[in-house]
Amino acid sequence: MKAKIVYASMTGNDEDMAEMLEEDLQDYGFEVDSSDVSFTDATDYLDADLCIMITYTYGEGKMTDETADFYAQLKELDLNGKYFAVMGSGDKTYGEHFCENVFDFEKAFKQCGATEIVPAVTIENAPDDDDIDQIDTAAEEMNDKLNA
Ligand SMILES: Cc1cc2nc3c(=O)[nH]c(=O)nc-3n(C[C@H](O)[C@H](O)[C@H](O)COP(=O)(O)O)c2cc1C
Repeated sequence: MKAKIVYASMTGNDEDMAEMLEEDLQDYGFEVDSSDVSFTDATDYLDADLCIMITYTYGEGKMTDETADFYAQLKELDLNGKYFAVMGSGDKTYGEHFCENVFDFEKAFKQCGATEIVPAVTIENAPDDDDIDQIDTAAEEMNDKLNA
C-alpha cells in the first residue's frame, strides 16, 4: 500500500505530525512518501492508494499562497477509488476558524471522489502526548482498513 503525505508547516508542528504518521505507517508496512506542500504537485496523489494532507491554518482560515495553489491543483483531480485522511494543527483561540484549512481539504478530497478513511485529526499547537495517541490511533485504523 502506497501512502503520500503532504504537509504545510511554518513553525514545525504540522511537519512533526507528518513525521510521526510517516513512522507509524512505515511500521505497518506502508510505502510512504512525504513532502512539503511548497515542493509538491497535487498530481503526486495519483500514484498513491492513501492520500494524506496535514496542514496549518493561519490568517483566520485564509490560505497562504502555497496551500492555495496546491488546493486548486487538488480540486482538478479524479481520486475515485482512493482513500484520504486530513490532519492539522491550529489554535482554538481562532474560534470558528480553528483548523479551517484542514476542513477545506477534507471537502476537496470528497469532491474529488476519494473516501475518508479516518475522521479528521485536529490538534492544538505542538503535539502533546494525547495528540500523539490520536495520530497513532489513526494510523492503526488506516492499517486495519487497508492491510487487513
Ligand atoms: C498570525 C497567526 C494566525 C493564525 N490563524 C489561525 C487560524 O485562523 N486558525 C487556527 O486554527 N490557528 C491559527 N493559528 C495557529 C497556528 O495554526 C498554529 O500555531 C499551528 O500549530 C501552526 O502550525 P505549524 O507549526 O505547522 O506552522 C494562527 C497563528 C498565527 C501566528
